[in-house]
Amino acid sequence: MANLEIDMEKNQFLHEIETKESSNIPYGCRKGVCGQCVVELNDHHNVLKPKTEDEKIILSVIGRNKENHRLACTCESIKSGKIFIDLI
Ligand code: FES
Repeated sequence: MANLEIDMEKNQFLHEIETKESSNIPYGCRKGVCGQCVVELNDHHNVLKPKTEDEKIILSVIGRNKENHRLACTCESIKSGKIFIDLI
């Protein structure tokens, strides 16, 4: 699927970014509950915080157990930089 390259600022949630690339992410609740926004994170150069326990639970419930599976809406940056994700 499409590989997206997205620039993030420090302390920003991915779902707050409105670009042509980020508009392809299929958001639903934007609260880490529905699981619609699952993506594969290819590289983020430690830009993003690690998965929370709640994110791990939702990913497990929807059967997305790969290490690089993330809920896009819960991805929060700890510094500025580029992230690279694939849509599933
Ligand atoms: S949009 Fe619902 S979990 Fe991300």
